[in-house]
Amino acid sequence: MDGAEAHPRDLAMKEPVMAIDPTQFDVRALRGAFGAFMTGVTVTTTKDVDGTPRGFTANSFTSVSLDPPLLLVCLSKTSSTLATFRGANAFAVNVLAETQQEIANTFASKVSDRFAQIAWRDGPAGGAPILEGAAAWFDCAPHQMIDAGDHVILIGEVKAFDATDANGLGYARGGYFTLGLEQKAVAAAAGEAHVVVGAIVEHEGKVLLVEDETGGLRPPSTGRDGERGSVARLKNKLFQMGVDARLGPLYAVYENDKTGVQSIYYRAAASAASADEGRFIALDEIPWSRLPSQPLTDMLRRFEIEHREQRFGVYFSGGEFWQARRAAGDK
Ligand SMILES: Cc1cc2nc3c(=O)[nH]c(=O)nc-3n(C[C@H](O)[C@H](O)[C@H](O)COP(=O)(O)O)c2cc1C
Repeated sequence: MDGAEAHPRDLAMKEPVMAIDPTQFDVRALRGAFGAFMTGVTVTTTKDVDGTPRGFTANSFTSVSLDPPLLLVCLSKTSSTLATFRGANAFAVNVLAETQQEIANTFASKVSDRFAQIAWRDGPAGGAPILEGAAAWFDCAPHQMIDAGDHVILIGEVKAFDATDANGLGYARGGYFTLGLEQKAVAAAAGEAHVVVGAIVEHEGKVLLVEDETGGLRPPSTGRDGERGSVARLKNKLFQMGVDARLGPLYAVYENDKTGVQSIYYRAAASAASADEGRFIALDEIPWSRLPSQPLTDMLRRFEIEHREQRFGVYFSGGEFWQARRAAGDK
């Protein structure tokens, strides 16, 4: 149910998973397969009897019925918020906007006061917390709670709602994505500027780095030889390098201030840490001084952190990531 730990490695899954006894499925593989279903991201909220706001990140949201207006969210029975939701007389579903990745991370983490850093107000009907800047929100009265395996299904009747024009935050295969980033990649690829298209090819904590003409190390890319980079050329290049990898989600789109070059990088999962050209280097052993530019360094450092936390985001520039980390209290 939770997409949180799905991982691009699961993309490499080739044999169908069969089990005579379905309770013996590899839970990780099953979660990975569920993660192929692209969703939005919500923060579902309520209040304790003493009025303390509570909430958790959920991508299991589904609209259920228009008349009466019903929706559902699945909540893990292991959640620290379960007892509060069971006893609540109102809850709210906040559909996060594409700028709200950090909020999604906060409400999926174990920080004690998830509401400390964000602006929110009471919902007009039931009083459950409505988050400032949400793409849409639904203030609900509990309609039914259904026991379902290791989760409970919270069905709510919508008593009040609102929606804005903001793009929602997307989630697929353990990483966030945004329409805004996809549009920016399309614009970069169609524009006048020179475009580099590359991939962070990963296998079990190692990434593929190739030595360039000046001795610098960089992820494999196309478009540095004068011709425009493209996804087709990138796939061809990886094939020629003897790398068995499948391209995953878009990871970063940025412009190098000094050269004006637009870079578009995808994540890719390799089936093995082997290549005829370049070598796979463990993320904690990357010789950072050999990376040829600051934006490339920022992008790979971000990848290292997100890989460690098993949660990948999308950013339009390296700076946005570091700003967000600092705002979240990181040094
Ligand atoms: C993108 C994303 C989607 C998630 N979806 C769900 C979900 O639908 N249901 C759920 O119970 N947990 C989900 N989780 C996990 C919870 O947010 C997380 O386990 C929880 O907040 C941990 O704290 P808790 O034990 O206090 O609930 C999701 C996490 C992420 C990052």
